[in-house]
Amino acid sequence: MNAARAKRMMARRCGRVAATRIAAGAALLAIVAGFGAVQAQMRPQLQAQATAGAAVSPGSVTSPGSAGAGGSVGVARSPGSAIATGEYLARAGDCVACHTPRGGEPFTGGLPMKTPFGTLYTPNITPDPENGIGRWSADDFWRALHEGRSRDGSLLYPAFPYTNYTKVTRADSDALFAYLKSLKPVKKRNRPHDMSFPFNQRNLMLGWRALYFESGEYSPHPNQSAEWNRGAYLVQGLGHCDACHTSRNMLGATVKSKEFSGGLIPLQDWYAPSLTSNREAGLGQWNIDDVVALLRTGVSNRGVVFGPMAQVVHDSLQYINEADTRAMVVYLKSLAQEGVPSDPLQVRPTEEQSRAAYDAGAKLYDLHCKSCHQANGSGAPPAYPPLANNQAITMEFAVNPVRMVLFGGFPPATKGNPRPYGMPPFAYILNDEEVASVVTYMRQSWGNRGNAVSAADVARYRIVPVD
Ligand code: HEC
Ligand code: HEC
Ligand code: HEC
Repeated sequence: MNAARAKRMMARRCGRVAATRIAAGAALLAIVAGFGAVQAQMRPQLQAQATAGAAVSPGSVTSPGSAGAGGSVGVARSPGSAIATGEYLARAGDCVACHTPRGGEPFTGGLPMKTPFGTLYTPNITPDPENGIGRWSADDFWRALHEGRSRDGSLLYPAFPYTNYTKVTRADSDALFAYLKSLKPVKKRNRPHDMSFPFNQRNLMLGWRALYFESGEYSPHPNQSAEWNRGAYLVQGLGHCDACHTSRNMLGATVKSKEFSGGLIPLQDWYAPSLTSNREAGLGQWNIDDVVALLRTGVSNRGVVFGPMAQVVHDSLQYINEADTRAMVVYLKSLAQEGVPSDPLQVRPTEEQSRAAYDAGAKLYDLHCKSCHQANGSGAPPAYPPLANNQAITMEFAVNPVRMVLFGGFPPATKGNPRPYGMPPFAYILNDEEVASVVTYMRQSWGNRGNAVSAADVARYRIVPVD
C-alpha cells in the first residue's frame, strides 16, 4: 500500500471516532429512559439547584489574549475581538469535528453519529435562518451550551457534549455565538435523526439528565493558581477531554469518580489512556515542554499522537496558544496518579509462549522496524517516535500498539509539524502471531515492562472496522 493510500485510510479511520465515542454514550442513555423518567419526577429540583448554585467568578478563566490577566471576562469587547475570541473558542471546543459533513463545508452539519438505536445527524450551525442558528439569540445559544436545550426548549442528546460545555462562561458563550453568527449562512437542510422508537422521544432524556447532568459554569478553585484554573476550565469545559479519556458506565455516562482514568472507545476499539496514571498517559513523569509540544504539534520527544487523538490535535489543539496549552498541562499534571483498570478480555499467554514470542519478535523487529525506530528503540524523535520508555506501548491495554502495527498511521499535519513522517501498515505483511510477537518484543525490551500479547488479541483488533 502506498503512503497516500495509507494516509487516506488513516484519516478516514480517525475521522469518525470522536463522534462515535460520544454517540455511543448518548445511545445508551436510552436504556435508562424508562426508570429514569420516574427518577426525574422524584428529583425535580436538581436542575434548578445546580444552576442556581453555580458560582460565577470567572476572573481567572478568560479568553485568549487575556489569559491569566484576570478579570476581563464580561468587559465589553469591540465586535472584531469578540469574533476572534469566538473563533478561538470554537477551536478549543472542536465544534467543527462533529458539525462538518465528510468532505463538506464546515459547520453545516450532517455528520452521521451511529448508535445502537439509530443514527444522529449533527445540525447546521451556520447562521442560516431556516436551517441554522440565524434566528437564535445569544440567550438561546447560551441555553444550548449550558442546559442542553434547543431553541424551542426541547432536550438535546448528550452526543452534543453539553455536559462539558455547561462549564463555559457566559462571556465565552457570547463570543462563540458572535463568531458563529459571523460565518456565511449556508442553506443546507438538516437531516432528521433516524432513531427508533422510543429513543426518538426527547423527553425520555429527562431521566438521564437527572442522574448524570449538572449544569453550572466552571467555578475557579480558590486554592489553585490562575493558570491551573484556566487549564481546568479548558480541559473540563470546551476541551471535553473526558468524553474519551474517562470510562463510561453501562448507561453511557462518564463515571465521575473515574474522571480521566482511561476508557476503551466503544465500537471503535481505540483506548484513550488514563491521564492520571503514570503507567499510561498520566503526565506526572513528563516535562511540561514535551506535553505542550505533543498537544500543539502532534509529536514530541516522548511519543506521538495517533488515531482519534491525532484528529483532536489536528482540528483543535494545534490552534490553542502556548499559554493555554501550558495551563491545561499544569492542570493535567496535578491530577491524582491512580491505578488503572485492566482489560478483562485480554488473553494472557503462558510464560513459555511469551518467551517464544519475544525471540521471534526480536527477529521481526530487526527486519521491519529497526530502520526507523532504531535497534535500541530510541527512534529519531520527533520524526520517528521512541519505543523505549514510551507509555503508549507498555500500558495494560495493548490495543493501541497492536493497531499501530496493523494499520500504521500518520501523526496529524500541524503548523508545528507540517509534513509528518508516516508508518507503513503491516497487516498484509505479518500474521496475527507475528504481530503479537513484535508487539510483545517492544513491550519487553529496552527497559519497557508490559505484558506479552497473544495472537488472539491481535485477531480481535484486526477485524475492528476502520471506519
Ligand atoms: C462530539 C460531537 C459534537 C461536538 C464536539 C459539538 N457538537 Fe454541537 N451538536 C452535536 C449533536 C449530535 C447535536 C444534535 C443534538 C440533538 O439533536 O439533540 C448538536 C447540537 C448543537 C446545537 C443545537 C442545534 C439545534 O438546532 O438545536 C448547537 C447550538 C451546537 N450543537 C453547537 C455546538 C458548538 C458551538 C460546538 C463547539 C463548542 C459544538 N456544537 C460541538 C454534536 C457535537
Ligand atoms: C475523540 C477522543 C479523544 C478526545 C476528545 C481526547 N483524546 Fe486524548 N487520546 C485519545 C486516544 C484514543 C489516545 C491514545 C492514542 C495516542 O496516544 O495518541 C489519546 C492520547 C492522549 C495523550 C497521550 C499521548 C501519548 O503519546 O501518550 C494525551 C496527553 C491526551 N490524549 C490528552 C488529551 C487532552 C488534553 C484532551 C482534551 C483537550 C484529549 N486528550 C481529548 C482520545 C481522545
Ligand atoms: C518507515 C518508518 C517506520 C517503520 C519501518 C516502522 N515505524 Fe513505527 N512509527 C513510525 C512513525 C512515523 C510513527 C508515528 C506514527 C503516528 O503518529 O501515527 C510510528 C509509530 C509507532 C508506534 C506508536 C508510538 C507512539 O509514540 O505512540 C509504535 C508502537 C510503532 N511505531 C511500532 C513499530 C513497529 C513494531 C514496527 C515494525 C513492525 C514499526 N513501528 C515500523 C515509523 C515507522
